[in-house]
Amino acid sequence: MAASSLLFLSLLSLMSLCFSQQTQISSEKQTLLQIKDDWGNPSALASWSNSSSSDYCKWTGVNCSADGSVTQLVLSSEDITGGVPRSICQLKSLSHLDLSDNEIPGSFPQFLSNCTNLQYLDLSGNYFVGVLPSNLDRVLPNITNLYLSDNNFTGEIPSSIGKMTQLRSLWLDNNLFNGTMPRFISNLINLQELTLAYNLFTPGQIPEEYGNLTELAYIFMASTNLEGDIPNSLTKLTQLEHLDLAYNSLHGTIPPGIWSFSNLQVLYLQQNNLSGEIAVVNGSFGANGLVEIDLSMNQLSGSIPKSFGKLQNLSVLFLYYNNLSGEIPAGIGLLPKLTDIRLFNNKLTGVLPPELGKNSPLWNLEVFNNMLSGEIPSNICYKGTFTYLSVYNNNLTGSIPKSLGQCPHLNGIQVYNNHLSGEVPDGLWQMQNLSTVVMNNNMLSGQLPSSLPWNLTRLEIQNNRFSGSVPTSAGPTLRI
Ligand SMILES: *[C@@H]1O[C@H](CO)[C@@H](O)[C@H](O)[C@H]1NC(C)=O
Ligand SMILES: *[C@@H]1O[C@H](CO)[C@@H](O)[C@H](O)[C@H]1NC(C)=O
Ligand SMILES: *[C@@H]1O[C@H](CO)[C@@H](O)[C@H](O)[C@H]1NC(C)=O
Ligand SMILES: *[C@@H]1O[C@H](CO)[C@@H](O)[C@H](O)[C@H]1NC(C)=O
Ligand SMILES: *[C@@H]1O[C@H](CO)[C@@H](O)[C@H](O)[C@H]1NC(C)=O
Ligand SMILES: *[C@@H]1O[C@H](CO)[C@@H](O)[C@H](O)[C@H]1NC(C)=O
Ligand SMILES: *[C@@H]1O[C@H](CO)[C@@H](O)[C@H](O)[C@H]1NC(C)=O
Ligand SMILES: *[C@@H]1O[C@H](CO)[C@@H](O)[C@H](O)[C@H]1NC(C)=O
Ligand SMILES: *[C@@H]1O[C@H](CO)[C@@H](O)[C@H](O)[C@H]1NC(C)=O
Ligand SMILES: *[C@@H]1O[C@H](CO)[C@@H](O)[C@H](O)[C@H]1NC(C)=O
Ligand SMILES: *[C@@H]1O[C@H](CO)[C@@H](O)[C@H](O)[C@H]1NC(C)=O
Ligand SMILES: *[C@@H]1O[C@H](CO)[C@@H](O)[C@H](O)[C@H]1NC(C)=O
Repeated sequence: MAASSLLFLSLLSLMSLCFSQQTQISSEKQTLLQIKDDWGNPSALASWSNSSSSDYCKWTGVNCSADGSVTQLVLSSEDITGGVPRSICQLKSLSHLDLSDNEIPGSFPQFLSNCTNLQYLDLSGNYFVGVLPSNLDRVLPNITNLYLSDNNFTGEIPSSIGKMTQLRSLWLDNNLFNGTMPRFISNLINLQELTLAYNLFTPGQIPEEYGNLTELAYIFMASTNLEGDIPNSLTKLTQLEHLDLAYNSLHGTIPPGIWSFSNLQVLYLQQNNLSGEIAVVNGSFGANGLVEIDLSMNQLSGSIPKSFGKLQNLSVLFLYYNNLSGEIPAGIGLLPKLTDIRLFNNKLTGVLPPELGKNSPLWNLEVFNNMLSGEIPSNICYKGTFTYLSVYNNNLTGSIPKSLGQCPHLNGIQVYNNHLSGEVPDGLWQMQNLSTVVMNNNMLSGQLPSSLPWNLTRLEIQNNRFSGSVPTSAGPTLRI
């Protein structure tokens, strides 16, 4: 008797469990169908259908926990044009909502406060406008990842964000935010990613307190009206992988400590008013993982650090429009990943690294307007990837390397105003992608070809020692 009633009781509880799970399942499904309906049945949600066989946890963008509650909605780039429906918060377990890159209009959806488990919210790349709620900390109390980039949000960034200390990612770039650079963000001690770039902040300095955000790995603050020095406190951010302070009015020197960040991969400081030397702390260089360095359009002086010639992952090196002098470190020619090097408009002397092009898939070399001497590296197109050579206004001697005559992607060669001699390599005139050849004011010799590449649009060869005449068989748009 006791045993059978126990069995009966457990059967009953099992049944009620099944029943409650069943209701939950059907209500989650009904909610999703409601959301679809509220959005005007966009074609991207065609898989969201009411047929009984259909498992809503497998619908486009839906992810569930084991008990069938919807935990994630990932509806990025689905051509959604309607506002965020209130019905979304009937999904009580929703913790991850990604609506990025749609055309969703309206102001910030405050009713998301009803999504009490929301931890991850991505509304970036939509048509949102207006100010953020001043009580954002109470609207999104559990949020760790907040992405609002690429909208038209306006007004000041609410100071309540300074209370959202659980935030790990805060992306606010490319909006119309104004007011001063938010100092209170320095309270967000768990922050790993911060983007404030391309907003309308009033001119001001980088808050020194940002140096307290020692978990930061990613900073994107380009074009935010920054002025003054880069605070030395930022050298405490030793976890940084990506530092972008480009297109501001920053002054002073680059804090040497930056060159010791061992995780740093991207450093963009271009178009500021930075001056002084590219100094390395006590001669030790720790940022050996750098992939891209752009310090162009500043007033940097001194020489290019030899350490740049040891960066095994370096792909892009832009130092153009500075006052750099001295020689280009020879080690740069040995780097295996180098693709694009732009050092033009400096006062560089000495020779181009002789191995340039030999060891990496180099496609671009722009070093014009310097005082370089010696020869153009002979293996410049060794890997067959080379596309553009711009070395004019230097003191280069020797001949145009033979490897440029077997360089299938070659698009342009600007070598004018040097002291180059010898003959143009045979194959050069057969390079079918060649569109620009500017060789004037050298001492080049040899016979001009009988025909020119069809795509050639610019040819300047005067003041050389060529024989023969300029061929007439060329493409229709050639300017000589
Ligand atoms: C889905 O189907 C159920 C019955 O199968 C019905 O009760 C419900 O109203 C339908 N929902 C929608 C949104 O059509
Ligand atoms: C759904 O969630 C599970 C568990 O969190 C995860 O392993 C899986 O990658 C998620 N699927 C999608 C498409 O996000
Ligand atoms: C939150 O949800 C409740 C019912 O679930 C509803 O009455 C209330 O209006 C909602 N609040 C907002 C801000 O949408
Ligand atoms: C956003 O602002 C820009 C520049 O102010 C404007 O051109 C654009 O039309 C706006 N877009 C929306 C969706 O409001
Ligand atoms: C969300 O935040 C509220 C209020 O701060 C807290 O009571 C709740 O435990 C949090 N929930 C989760 C899932 O973190
Ligand atoms: C910031 O933008 C808001 C809304 O567009 C505007 O009312 C306010 O005057 C602006 N403030 C400043 C300092 O530009
Ligand atoms: C944050 O940094 C500032 C200046 O760098 C310092 O004065 C302050 O004590 C720091 N605050 C905390 C909480 O560490
Ligand atoms: C930056 O430097 C340039 C050249 O020295 C100068 O013309 C410009 O006014 C400076 N800009 C600022 C914001 O200081
Ligand atoms: C640099 O060297 C000086 C003296 O040798 C030392 O006091 C200082 O702490 C060093 N700085 C760093 C960042 O290592
Ligand atoms: C270079 O990149 C590779 C692959 O991303 C990585 O494993 C390696 O650690 C990097 N080297 C340095 C010195 O950071
Ligand atoms: C080229 O070298 C000569 C002397 O060798 C020097 O007078 C001249 O200034 C140099 N020109 C450039 C552009 O460096
Ligand atoms: C000429 O240039 C065009 C575009 O720049 C390219 O698509 C085309 O392949 C080129 N022609 C030849 C013969 O390479």
